[in-house]
Amino acid sequence: MEYFELGDLKAKAPKLFGIPTGTKLDEMFYKVDIENGKFTKKPLGGIPYLSVINLTGVPDSGKSVLAEQFAVTQAGNGYRVLFVTVESPANFLYTALKQKSLALEIDFSKVEENVVVIDASQNEELRENPRALIDTMAYAIKEKKVTNVIIDSITGLYEHREMMARQIVRQFFNFLKKWKQTGLFVSQKRSSQSSDTAEAAGGLAVAHIVDGTIVLDKKLIDNRWDVSLYGLPVGSVLRTIRIDGCRLCGHDSRTWIFEITEAGTIKIVCPLSDYIKRVKPGEQ
Ligand SMILES: Nc1ncnc2c1ncn2[C@@H]1O[C@H](COP(=O)(O)OP(=O)(O)OP(=O)(O)O)[C@@H](O)[C@H]1O
Ligand SMILES: [Mg+2]
Repeated sequence: MEYFELGDLKAKAPKLFGIPTGTKLDEMFYKVDIENGKFTKKPLGGIPYLSVINLTGVPDSGKSVLAEQFAVTQAGNGYRVLFVTVESPANFLYTALKQKSLALEIDFSKVEENVVVIDASQNEELRENPRALIDTMAYAIKEKKVTNVIIDSITGLYEHREMMARQIVRQFFNFLKKWKQTGLFVSQKRSSQSSDTAEAAGGLAVAHIVDGTIVLDKKLIDNRWDVSLYGLPVGSVLRTIRIDGCRLCGHDSRTWIFEITEAGTIKIVCPLSDYIKRVKPGEQ
């Protein structure tokens, strides 16, 4: 068929609901309902079902920590997660997921059972040849009845060939859509890119293709101005998270402060503006 009437798409339109991440992000995506003639915002309870979300940030900003928290949360709820690890070998992933399950009081035996891992970090063919990786992923998704996919990182799949970024990201995006997966693509920034934007290695390729972007950032408090603005001692680190955009639903657009706890979990604290308000003039 060459064209559709909008009504023909009704049966195929995905339901709008959230897939929990185990963080406050779950309340930051929302849908709008009309109740008694008034618009009301209802938290989605997670990232939108069947969305592919780009998780970007500078090194050490918490991208992998967040992706792993999403994985254990889903696995703990009984859903299968395919974790494609491109940077860090799979045995490190085991330890990270175990520690997070403990901290979040998630039954680790469920995580062991429900997380399926493809280790591309140790396999050049999988990293360099998108077709080979896609075939392996398709097999795992089918065999293991996977519903969520994490690729950490998608930028690792076009290292040294960033002119290919758009084409490679598009292939994986279409693949996830075809297999009805909810997905997280972790993407790394180049040091030349402004740290709080959606831009990642390969330019804006990832941000333009995916359904939404979450930006993580890390700020070092290294001057008097920051000390008095944020009320933090010099040398400390301030972590922020922001939903940069989402095509599928409404979302909070503020910048939020978050912490990485000692157990390696994400705790989103409050909007940056509230955080700054707590600092009274003259107080440090
Ligand atoms: N298990 C843990 N316990 C305590 N802190 C942790 C733990 N895991 C990670 N962290 C902290 O979180 C920081 C961010 O780690 P993460 O690996 O998520 O960064 P990233 O954004 O994925 O970086 P990269 O781009 O280099 O992959 C680490 O530097 C560390 O300070
Ligand atoms: Mg990482």
